[in-house]
Amino acid sequence: MRVLAVASEIFPLVKTGGLAEVTGALPLALGSAGAETTTVVPGFPAVLDALSNATAVHRFADLFGGPATMLRGSAAGLDLLVVEAPHLYARDGNPYLGPDRQEWPDNGVRFAGLGAAAAAVAAGIIPNLEYDIVHAHDWQAAMAVVYLHFHSGRRPGTVLTVHNLAFQGRYRGGLFPRLGLPQSAFSLDGLEYHGDVNMLKGGLAYADRITTVSPTYAREITGIDNGMGLDGLLRSRADRVSGILNGIDDTVWNPANDTLIAANYTRDKPARRAINKIALQQRMGLDQGAEHLLVGVISRLTSQKGLDMLVDQIDTLVADGMQFAVLGSGDPVLERAFVAAREGHPGSVGCTIGYDEALAHLIQAGADAMLVPSRFEPCGLTQLSALRYGAIPVVSRVGGLADSVIDANPAALAAGVSTGLQFWPATPQALQHAMQTLLVLWRDKANWRRMQRNAMAADVSWRASARRYAALFQSLLGDRR
Ligand code: ADP
Ligand code: GLC
Repeated sequence: MRVLAVASEIFPLVKTGGLAEVTGALPLALGSAGAETTTVVPGFPAVLDALSNATAVHRFADLFGGPATMLRGSAAGLDLLVVEAPHLYARDGNPYLGPDRQEWPDNGVRFAGLGAAAAAVAAGIIPNLEYDIVHAHDWQAAMAVVYLHFHSGRRPGTVLTVHNLAFQGRYRGGLFPRLGLPQSAFSLDGLEYHGDVNMLKGGLAYADRITTVSPTYAREITGIDNGMGLDGLLRSRADRVSGILNGIDDTVWNPANDTLIAANYTRDKPARRAINKIALQQRMGLDQGAEHLLVGVISRLTSQKGLDMLVDQIDTLVADGMQFAVLGSGDPVLERAFVAAREGHPGSVGCTIGYDEALAHLIQAGADAMLVPSRFEPCGLTQLSALRYGAIPVVSRVGGLADSVIDANPAALAAGVSTGLQFWPATPQALQHAMQTLLVLWRDKANWRRMQRNAMAADVSWRASARRYAALFQSLLGDRR
């Protein structure tokens, strides 16, 4: 089976969050499950710089305002088709935002271009390149599904994976005539949303199958609270929607040989983990000592992630003896709040504003616990890495957080199976309560070690989930025969 994935970011070339980790890791895991994957990505400078053995396989005379070339090549072990379209993608920095941190004004056509180019390949524009399945990730790739729906010849089966329903690619209706689609696509059953073009909605309307990145999120998005205005459409297609939990690349995230941390360790020989804690305390200006319960945070700072609730409670938590190591960037108000917390609690709150892959690894290896208090979370990857690194995850009971952490409730503790803590609802009070429970667990060293061993034994790899994707692709192929 041959899969054509379509994505706007892919680790290690371009990453703004979990999406890139998924699109970067899934091809290898799918390969072992019998599905060979090529990924279509925009020709951002970082992608073109990394590409080797590139050959031009197709030229588009005009892709939304300029010529484009489809390049085939590889980078970091990934088989890629790169849409080289300088007028759309030759811009440094964040793939979606300009230097002013605002969305590029032409994002609508930039990602319609990605979709159109991918759909052309999937429809067979390049001789000898044929695919059974198109796997589009998020709104930036959703137009590939839309264009294929209106393609008249033979086409592959289409699967759209929603990583985050909050981002939909919504633009003024005036964009529609530029998309080159039949008028019928701009309807209630298609791309149209309150007079606007909604790219994710188009993909959701036309995809043969829809997946999201955890079973719980798949249920949540069909309800009004988490449907982000698309729950009606998702309910009408409920028989096509399923959830497949993300994994993490366990070669990138492996405390046994991670070169970005201070000391390597394993589940069976965890003693050297303590060296990472000291290194992290040093690095973040925290008081050194094994006795402090050190809680890590690695996150985009947006309201989704619920970290304003931590800001709200941090004085009490510090007074109770906890330390915090926070790495994140995003909302300037939250950034300032964490900097102020660091100034207000020297030695107890460390915070680095920015994006730092190496520091993220050190936090996973050095923190005793990882806090992920999201208001909603399609899957979440930091808690998966935390499990693998033995940092006890404390999470709100939503989406993929609910599906990946076994709460230390009395029954789970008695059975000795817990891997972390869940709290609900996502409120400052519930967070405070969970952190107090964490402190109690921390003081019981035998139980803590047991929980840590359970966490490190949890299967957070892609193996089982890649098999689920492969089975879904197979069943779709079967239905189409
Ligand atoms: P999302 O994609 O919603 O941001 P995920 O939990 O799925 O959330 O993935 C986020 C990924 O990005 C994690 O691997 C996390 O370690 C990483 N990450 C988030 N913020 C930072 C940061 N400031 N520096 C380094 N890595 C970060
Ligand atoms: C999105 C979601 C996150 C998920 C990631 C990868 O960014 O916010 O929960 O883990 O995609 O699927």
